[in-house]
Amino acid sequence: MHYSVAAADHGLPHDPFKSLVAPRPIGWITALDREGRVNCSPYSFFNAISDRPHMVAFSSDGLKDARAFIEETGEFTCSFSNWDLRDAMNATSAPLPRGESELAFAGLEPAPSRFVKPPRVKAAPAALECKWLQTVPLTSLEGKTRYFLVIGEVVGVYIDDTFVKDGFVDTAAMRPIMRGGYDQYFAVGPEQMFRMTRPAGGGNFNERKG
Ligand SMILES: Cc1cc2nc3c(=O)[nH]c(=O)nc-3n(C[C@H](O)[C@H](O)[C@H](O)COP(=O)(O)O)c2cc1C
Repeated sequence: MHYSVAAADHGLPHDPFKSLVAPRPIGWITALDREGRVNCSPYSFFNAISDRPHMVAFSSDGLKDARAFIEETGEFTCSFSNWDLRDAMNATSAPLPRGESELAFAGLEPAPSRFVKPPRVKAAPAALECKWLQTVPLTSLEGKTRYFLVIGEVVGVYIDDTFVKDGFVDTAAMRPIMRGGYDQYFAVGPEQMFRMTRPAGGGNFNERKG
């Protein structure tokens, strides 16, 4: 198979794009609106985009509450879901009316952040506390799109100490879940972790501090 995206002549019942750029990390975004009402929803067009400074971004299809709230108050948190939280994470994607808490709807408890006002998901193994930097409307070869890239700088990091061993974060022990295409997700654990070192001078993790 080798197809033109414009012609969409893949002959498949569903567009395979999101099953190829996969598995994708899920940013579980919490933000407050001007009235202090909380919103929490998952975004898998999400990733880290810089580590100096720490920056993350997610892409919103139009003006959803996460983007609207962040643009109102300038802060958000990004919790990381895992195998145990998979159903709750999914529940928070329900299209609730603005101002109705998806955390309450999904039976999740908030935990206070240290450096921003929006809370994080208490049960999540890790979370990033972020200040909004900018929203970039995404343009395509044809012009405007429906998508907006929301970029934030990480000012605080929460890690459940259970997952810090001998000075290293044990990501695999967190059992993070990731998004595939269609209705597919991936959960990873220690069996999927392997190590590789980069060619000398190529920027191995232990060649620099931070
Ligand atoms: C795992 C997962 C990933 C998602 N990723 C995105 C995404 O990257 N962009 C997006 O616009 N919607 C995404 N959605 C859908 C939103 O979560 C959904 O529209 C939600 O209702 C938005 O909530 P909000 O309006 O409270 O922000 C995703 C849903 C799930 C379950």
